[in-house]
Amino acid sequence: MKLRHLLSTDDLDPDAIERLFAVARAAEPVARRRKVCRALEGAVLGNLFFEASTRTRMSFAAAFCRLGGAVCDTTGFTFSSMAKGESIHDTSRVISGYVDVLVVRHPERGAVAQFAQATHVPVINGGDGPGEHPSQALLDLYTLGNEFSRLGRRIDGAHVALIGDLKYGRTVHSLVKLLSLYRGLRFTLIAPPGLEMPAGLCELAARRGHHIDTRSSLRQPLHDLDLAYATRIQRERFTGEQTAGYTPEFRVDKAFLDTCCGPQTVLMHPLPRDSAPDANDLGTDLDSDPRTAIFRQSDSGVAVRMALFATLLGVERQLQRPLADATWRRPRRLGPSDAPFYTLDD
Ligand code: NCD
Repeated sequence: MKLRHLLSTDDLDPDAIERLFAVARAAEPVARRRKVCRALEGAVLGNLFFEASTRTRMSFAAAFCRLGGAVCDTTGFTFSSMAKGESIHDTSRVISGYVDVLVVRHPERGAVAQFAQATHVPVINGGDGPGEHPSQALLDLYTLGNEFSRLGRRIDGAHVALIGDLKYGRTVHSLVKLLSLYRGLRFTLIAPPGLEMPAGLCELAARRGHHIDTRSSLRQPLHDLDLAYATRIQRERFTGEQTAGYTPEFRVDKAFLDTCCGPQTVLMHPLPRDSAPDANDLGTDLDSDPRTAIFRQSDSGVAVRMALFATLLGVERQLQRPLADATWRRPRRLGPSDAPFYTLDD
């Protein structure tokens, strides 16, 4: 499978994922600031974000810069010519004259695919409304693979709980599709009433032989859980839905970790978490618990996105060659609550 664009996880098969992850592993010394790579020197990324973003926009940009490239970007509709009525087609074709690859985030499902139709330059979907977020699912899977290999576990046969807004959460839509490429998983889907996983995605996972259990409460016990993946309620996408069912019991916090999860359960969340007191999102009291992989997950975004760029632009072999050492000072650990086993030197 030759990757031309990355619009959906449907563009990926297990071989393509394994090849990407091998490139991401080769990119780790650069992502962790030990080595320097100039494979994309002279290349330009167009980062087009028509929706709010911190980590996706910044980590795509950082990944491109760490490969030696430069970044041009535009944020929101207000300062783009779309505010003057320019079509997606024209915008995409014009920007293709300036850059070598496009990353696009847009509030409408399918809009990023329209960008891809208007250009021969590779386009990566950085999130299309409630549709998909394939690069996030890739970095989630990469992180999970790292966590499981440290714990001596496999993805095949794992028990995975997806928690929160499964209707509008595009990260879980893409993740279910990628995890469904493995064998014999047990999915427990826990969403407030009205925010359940779309039926088509449940059917796809069931067709591929996985077991699906759905719940509207986080209170019931969860046995032998390997991964708890929590998501934010996507209020900005609501079209009349109520959050009445999204009660404090949906809060994924230290008490949840200690009562519902085992000593080796991995806890992930794509972030951002909504830190408002009444948000019922992921708590902060679990940050220093070694099971909490949320920052290892966001850090993985750089290596995985470097692998995507290197593969789409055909320079992946350059990451296998000896690379120059980075010479600037860097910390050994990135954050004060990082797990003892996680350093930039790994
Ligand atoms: C997610 C997104 O934008 O879909 N964030 C991200 O890219 N890591 C999740 C969210 O906004 O809740």
